[in-house]
Amino acid sequence: MVQEYSPKIIGFLCRWCSYAGADLAGAMRLQYPPNLRIIQVPCTGRIDILHLLQAFEVGADTVFISGCHEGDCHYMTGNYHARKRVERAKEILKEVGLEPERLEMFHVSASEGPKFAAVAREMTERAYRLGPNPVKQKVRSAWLANQPAAHVAA
Ligand code: FES
Repeated sequence: MVQEYSPKIIGFLCRWCSYAGADLAGAMRLQYPPNLRIIQVPCTGRIDILHLLQAFEVGADTVFISGCHEGDCHYMTGNYHARKRVERAKEILKEVGLEPERLEMFHVSASEGPKFAAVAREMTERAYRLGPNPVKQKVRSAWLANQPAAHVAA
């Protein structure tokens, strides 16, 4: 049986701007793919490189951070730190054989519902274009190899 590929997208959203932008997109009934899982953070500056890498480790096909516009961060420089971490995490992805474009940073304010919907579509399209995250495949194969035959068949 061939399973249809349904990508998993993880978005880390700053609560002050992009989370509200996502809310607005919903209130405006804008269409965007349902594959997105949102993680709300107090500021994008709170996100560590490890959080980004762990998102891929647990099976995300694409990951993004969306925060306040430059100069608008409630904690002054959080989004600048986030951008540097995203750039470093992209280098690490490249080093381990994953496409760096699986990860991206965006800026979406609370009043930019349509832009948020466009970001969600963009990252979903990338996931379809790049295909399943190979790390997820390896973890799944290892899990299946360690299961008793009866468990796998169920
Ligand atoms: Fe939004 Fe810092 S408070 S990115």
